[in-house]
Amino acid sequence: MQGRRLATTEEIVAIVSPDSDDVVSRLESWTAERDISLSTVAVGEDIGHVYNENRATLGITIGGDGTFLEGIKTFAPRNVPQIGVNTGTLAFLARVEPEDLEAALDEVIHGRAKVDSRQQVAVRGEGIDATGINDVMVEHVPPENPIDRKITQLDVYADNEYIGEFEGTGLAVSTPTGSTGISLSANGPIHYPVDNHTLQLVPLHTHQLGVRPIVVSPSTELRFVTQGPATLLVDGGRANATLETGEEVLITGAERLAHVVRTSYDDHFFTAISKKLGWGIRDVDEPQRQSATAGRERTTSLSAESVGLNPSHDRARDPSVGSAAVTDDDSAAVLEHAHTIATEAAEAAGEPLRELHGQVETVAVKSNKSDIVTEADHQANRIITTVIDNEFPDHGIVSEEQPRRNGKNGYTWVVDPLDGTGNFAHGNPNYSISIALLENGTPAMGVVYVPETDELFSAIASVGAWRDGDPIETTDRDRLDESMLISGYDPDGTFLSHFYQESRGVRRLGSAALNLCYLASGSADATWEHDTYPWDIAGGLVIARAAGATITDERGEPFVFDLETDERTALLGSNGPLHPALLEHLETGLPDRSGDR
Ligand code: IPD
Ligand code: CA
Ligand code: CA
Repeated sequence: MQGRRLATTEEIVAIVSPDSDDVVSRLESWTAERDISLSTVAVGEDIGHVYNENRATLGITIGGDGTFLEGIKTFAPRNVPQIGVNTGTLAFLARVEPEDLEAALDEVIHGRAKVDSRQQVAVRGEGIDATGINDVMVEHVPPENPIDRKITQLDVYADNEYIGEFEGTGLAVSTPTGSTGISLSANGPIHYPVDNHTLQLVPLHTHQLGVRPIVVSPSTELRFVTQGPATLLVDGGRANATLETGEEVLITGAERLAHVVRTSYDDHFFTAISKKLGWGIRDVDEPQRQSATAGRERTTSLSAESVGLNPSHDRARDPSVGSAAVTDDDSAAVLEHAHTIATEAAEAAGEPLRELHGQVETVAVKSNKSDIVTEADHQANRIITTVIDNEFPDHGIVSEEQPRRNGKNGYTWVVDPLDGTGNFAHGNPNYSISIALLENGTPAMGVVYVPETDELFSAIASVGAWRDGDPIETTDRDRLDESMLISGYDPDGTFLSHFYQESRGVRRLGSAALNLCYLASGSADATWEHDTYPWDIAGGLVIARAAGATITDERGEPFVFDLETDERTALLGSNGPLHPALLEHLETGLPDRSGDR
């Protein structure tokens, strides 16, 4: 889950341990001021009566790590991200200190926090079917006479491969989150928990010194069979069972991840374990603090830090810094910062699209039977425009799905939150998200994200074009009969019928933004659009041009991007060498079809 998605939080559900009245009353004031609804429940109370799955919800626990674990049990099955405010003594999971409550939550609802996706463990057997965030422990049943042997014997398998007989006090299977608990005390390794989905099997007080901890993937099915009675505890007993001789238990990674919100107010993982474990390999203080949100994969080379802006840690502590740190005359810095924010916004908006894709939902018809909009278009739009608004409050925003907002400084964002809604509504994966930034009316930065393939195309004019951070460029093919063409809307099929025989193939894919990215990255040699809106092509235009494409109208005149026009415009994009041949056929092949949609 992307932290930027939390910018649209509408509701908070708080699980509250006793003696937390002060924190709760501050949370009440904070939510009331921001028009966010708040419901509080006591630890152990079900949230069913207050939780609304149709609203963007943030879970908060106020208490120690025990309360946080209750939060995981409650929020993770509902896919609700959670943050822990620590009013306990020594907490490892609940990491926001009460004094940072408001500042940390401001960071979250500005979309500047990070969300760690934590692996959970699933256990199934006779009388137990449970999920844990920390560990599953199997232990001997204490004998009536203490002189009797206090061991368990377990036959253990991984994906039906026999590992061997574990003999000792028992065993623990833990997640990376739980790797700092019981398994560590049995000499297991610590797993860095961020985006780490491995599980580890650690023998407890083994009687066979050769038995070592084993690390497996979350898809590995661990199975053990008891050779005597044993007890099974999930997360220290939050779920438990008594096992008889010969019982079989299956343990594997849970499908549902837990989403833990991390802010710049948290200690980093190794700082937290240094404090908690008395870690002997460094001083507790880090030489240099870093942002909790720094280092996103596809934007590392273009981060705000790399162009001399305040890192997001500092911005987070002073929300007013936001866009003020970006001066209008520093175009390169604005565009690079915009590139980072657009990437994060697009990836965050991709999440609800992936979740809703393929589901039956209401389709509203706008101007005609092919011009449709779904709830998914609106959800993606809300995330993207809120993120942009948070970071660039002075910029204008034009989106297909909302009224225009004019800016003050020559910068305007052009957003198509879902390009290819027809495909989307029919469960076809060819759809995309397009975000562009215009500088004085000219498209200067573009991001097109493809949720189903997790591909991110992006460009900054005069700097370069990339797919997932790697440079892309158009092909140099110059023979029509060897070329692959893409057609956009082609009302009477003239483009298709004319070029189908002349070329290697003509494809009609259904997302104008994506068509331009395929041209930019060499999967197609040319693309044709009979009529497009500015938001269909603004992002793809920057990407295709920066990758070397030639873009004209249907007569060969340079394509002029015009945000102010109400007209749909035609666009011919090619690798360059093919352009004359394409124009020749277009001019002779296409009748005047203006206004026939
Ligand atoms: C449409 C798609 C389609 C193109 C149409 C656009 P939408 O956008 O880009 O490929 O042929 O002209 O309107 O409505 O799905 O955002
Ligand atoms: Ca569109
Ligand atoms: Ca659209």
